[in-house]
Amino acid sequence: MKSLIPSVVAVLTPVAFVVGQNAGEHHSPLRRAQHHARQDAPSASTSTSPVALPTSSVSGASGTVSVAPTSTVDTAVYTFSLAATNPTAVPLSIITANQASSPTLPLSSTPAAGASPTFISGAPSLPNVSTIQPTNYPTMDRIPPLDSAEVQQWKQDVANSGISIPDFQPTNPGGCVNNTAIATDPARCWWSCTGCVTDKDITQCPDKNSWGLTYDDGPGYYTPNLLQYLDEKDLKSTFFVVGSRAIQFPSLLQAEYLGQHQIAVHTWSHQPLTQLTNDEIIAELGWTKKVIKDILGITPNMMRPPFGDIDNRVRAISLAMGMTPVIWTRTSATSTFDTDGEFPSASSLRLCSPFFITADFNIHSGVTPVQKVLQNWQTILASASTLDHGFIVLEHDLFQESVEVATGYILPDALAHNPPFKIQPVVSCLGMQIGDAYIETNKTTAGGSSASTSAGDATKSNNSIRQSPFESLVATTLIVGVSGFALGFFALTRF
Ligand SMILES: *[C@@H]1O[C@H](CO)[C@@H](O)[C@H](O)[C@H]1NC(C)=O
Ligand SMILES: *[C@@H]1O[C@H](CO)[C@@H](O)[C@H](O)[C@H]1NC(C)=O
Ligand SMILES: *[C@@H]1O[C@H](CO)[C@@H](O)[C@H](O)[C@H]1NC(C)=O
Ligand SMILES: *[C@@H]1O[C@H](CO)[C@@H](O)[C@H](O)[C@H]1NC(C)=O
Repeated sequence: MKSLIPSVVAVLTPVAFVVGQNAGEHHSPLRRAQHHARQDAPSASTSTSPVALPTSSVSGASGTVSVAPTSTVDTAVYTFSLAATNPTAVPLSIITANQASSPTLPLSSTPAAGASPTFISGAPSLPNVSTIQPTNYPTMDRIPPLDSAEVQQWKQDVANSGISIPDFQPTNPGGCVNNTAIATDPARCWWSCTGCVTDKDITQCPDKNSWGLTYDDGPGYYTPNLLQYLDEKDLKSTFFVVGSRAIQFPSLLQAEYLGQHQIAVHTWSHQPLTQLTNDEIIAELGWTKKVIKDILGITPNMMRPPFGDIDNRVRAISLAMGMTPVIWTRTSATSTFDTDGEFPSASSLRLCSPFFITADFNIHSGVTPVQKVLQNWQTILASASTLDHGFIVLEHDLFQESVEVATGYILPDALAHNPPFKIQPVVSCLGMQIGDAYIETNKTTAGGSSASTSAGDATKSNNSIRQSPFESLVATTLIVGVSGFALGFFALTRF
């Protein structure tokens, strides 16, 4: 993509872009994997100045951008039109894998230790972030050791949960294509291979035009830039937090929480969970729950599996640990609501593999041009308009590029959408209160409405889990997909 030379060739309304892609790029799996969960510090020093304003921009104006074909460019084009963009958006031509680090924003204020969040009834007081010592936690970005007292306790809790964990072997590396029998086994219900969901999975919002806004893999250096935009527009999101990032940025996690965003679990080191043993899954989820509780005083009751990689074994362990899986909307076997990834076809395959990851760092790692991300966004909007329910989109706050495209383009466009979207955290789109997203403050009754009584009934989640035997989970298993999907995708594979 470095060789691409954009030139403005036409003026249209609304903003429309057509951009070619370097089709010759072959992604290094290793590079993508390395980029996946970790984060390098911005190369420029952190600054207190606001986000750099673009000196020139195609955003907020009308135009068509095209790319002159060269020998390294194929004929692929990306088209999209945006109803609105942010006047201070970073220009698309700058949002690339190789862009210089832009300034990160400081937090507007540092939360006071001991303060009690007033927006959640019965919320515990905020822990003192200075007491959080990384040495008290597992090594970042590695599967935590299994021999700790904590993991032994969590294993016991799972055993005592009343939920039976299916006796499945972990999947092989290589995703669906390297696990052909498992991939289509209805008893596995492996979402990323077949789109199979159970009645426990949250993949959409009930109300049409309701958008469960989610950002994964942070907190990161650019999370404050996203938070500032969300604050300006009075938007609340769900953040699926990686435990290793929480330990790196505990004050940012507190800022997300105090900003009344929903905090949820996204594992300790961002592994494809179906490939892990039961104990490894327990360690990944348990340490993330614990670090969030240590930093915020509350424990999330929702989790998202990295890469959407979940089957009935991972589901059962998550539910046994008090967490409901949240994935993202998928309108057909070959499409997912994922703005950062390749949409629609290739992503489904890549989701299955630790290497062929669709979503996370495709701009950052140079795999997907920002223009393609915006084309994906347009496709999502078209799909959303056909649904009789709302939707959940996968986005990311870990890297500069994904924050820039969110604050500069996707969110402004979404806010200008007609009919208007109701943009909210997942817990809210489900009709619950923000406090219902946490084990300590969940007051949701089985009927789904929020009760105002019995604050701090911490035993409710345990009870409700015991009343949900795994067998009912299997019985209601539903294959969402089209026949021939799996076979078609096996044939497409190249490793
Ligand atoms: C927070 O913890 C630090 C380190 O233990 C301590 O020095 C400080 O006094 C604590 N602050 C409050 C408000 O408790
Ligand atoms: C497929 O699975 C086998 C068995 O676990 C493993 O040795 C091999 O590396 C996997 N292939 C890929 C491409 O991951
Ligand atoms: C909160 O607890 C109730 C049971 O009291 C349960 O039905 C509900 O699913 C829980 N909410 C979440 C978001 O886990
Ligand atoms: C579940 O049970 C454990 C052990 O009895 C208890 O500490 C916890 O508060 C209970 N509630 C939840 C939601 O985990």
